[in-house]
Amino acid sequence: TEFISANDLASLMDVSVNEVIKVCLNMGMFVSINQRLDAEAITVIADEFGYDIEFLSAEEEETVAEIEDDEADLQPRAPIVTIMGHVDHGKTSLLDYIRSATVAKGEAGGITQHIGAYDVMTKSDKRVTFLDTPGHEAFTAMRARGAKVTDIAIIVVAADDSVMPQTREAINHAQAAGVPIVIALNKIDKPGANPDKVREELSVMNILVEEWGGKYQSQEVSAKTGAGIDDLLEKVLLEAEILELKANPDRKAVGTVIEASLDKGRGYVTTILVQTGTMEVGDIVLAGPHFGRVKAMTDHRGKKMKKAGPATPVQVLGLTGAPQAGDKIQVMETEREARELATQRQQLAREQSMRTKKHITLDEIGRRL
Ligand code: GTP
Ligand code: MG
Repeated sequence: TEFISANDLASLMDVSVNEVIKVCLNMGMFVSINQRLDAEAITVIADEFGYDIEFLSAEEEETVAEIEDDEADLQPRAPIVTIMGHVDHGKTSLLDYIRSATVAKGEAGGITQHIGAYDVMTKSDKRVTFLDTPGHEAFTAMRARGAKVTDIAIIVVAADDSVMPQTREAINHAQAAGVPIVIALNKIDKPGANPDKVREELSVMNILVEEWGGKYQSQEVSAKTGAGIDDLLEKVLLEAEILELKANPDRKAVGTVIEASLDKGRGYVTTILVQTGTMEVGDIVLAGPHFGRVKAMTDHRGKKMKKAGPATPVQVLGLTGAPQAGDKIQVMETEREARELATQRQQLAREQSMRTKKHITLDEIGRRL
C-alpha cells in the first residue's frame, strides 16, 4: 500500500520537496512530486532526514474502537460529572459535602494530585458519578482528560476570589469537549463573597448565566454550610436529562483508567470508570500496555462489588502493572489476546522511549491526506 506523496512527506518533515527528490536520486530512486510512496520508501527517505516513522496498524486501531450498539440494547445511564476549577476554589470540599459525612474527609484542604472518582445517590434517588480534578496549573493534562470522559462539567469559582487562569482553562477544556457547563459560585458563606463580580467576569468570557439572560445555569453554594448544594445537583440533573444518556450494559466493559497505584499488600490498584458494558470479577482486561484478570472490585467506599455497569467507578485488583490515567481499558475474550496486545504496546512504548530521532506517526500523515 502507498501512503502519501513525496510532497506531503516533505512538508511533514518541514523540508522542500526538491530536497526529498534529490536525496531519492542519490539513493537511486526516481521519485516525482506527487508520486505516492510505499512504507519502505517512506521509512528510508525519512531516515535520511533524521525522522523515524511509526506505522499505526489497523489492528491496533480496531481494538480501541468502540463497538456500535443497537439502539434496542441501550439503557439509561447515570451522568458522569467532572468538577473543575482553579486551585483551592473548593472542588474537593464540594464533592466531600456531596458524598457527605459517610466518607472520611481524605483530601479536603490539601492539593488534589489526581482524579478521584465517586458515585452517589442524590435525594431524588438518581445516581450521579463525579470526577474530582486538580486545580493546580501543573495538571492541565488531567483536566483535559477529565473533560473528555465527562458528560457535564461543574466549574467551581470561589465567590470571594475571581475567575482565575485555571478557571478559564477548565472552561476551555469543557467547551472543546462539547460538554455542558454548570457554574458553582462557591464559598458564599464567606464575608468577602461577591458572586456578582464573578458573574461579571464570566460574562466577559461569553459565559452568561441564566439570571442574566444567558444559557448557563449557575448556583451559589457553600461547601462549608451545604447551602445551595441540593439546587446545584438538581441543575446538573436537568442538564443530564436533556442529554438522554444511554449505554449498553450487556456487553464487555469498555472504560478509562482514572488512576493507578501499587499497594504493598494488594498489588496494583486501578481506579477505572466503566463507560459502557459491565465489568465483572474474573474478566480479562487490557489497560493501556497492561493486562490482567480482575481479582476483586470495590467501590470508592471499599465495599466489594461483583459487577460494575456503565458510568460506574471501580477499584480493580489484578492488573500486572499500573496503566496511566486516561488509558483506555477494555475487557477481552481471552487472556492470550490481552497478553499479546499488552506486549505489543509495551514493546512499542519501549522502542519509542529509546528513539532519539524526531518522530512522525502515520496518524499525522493520515490527517494531512
Ligand atoms: P485543589 O484540589 O488543590 O485544586 O483545591 P480544591 O478546589 O479541591 O479546594 P479544596 O476543596 O481543597 O478547598 C480549599 C480550601 O477552601 C479549604 O481550606 C476548604 O476548607 C476551603 N473551602 C472550600 N469550600 C469552602 C466554602 O464553601 N466555604 C468556606 N468558608 N471555605 C471553603
Ligand atoms: Mg481538590
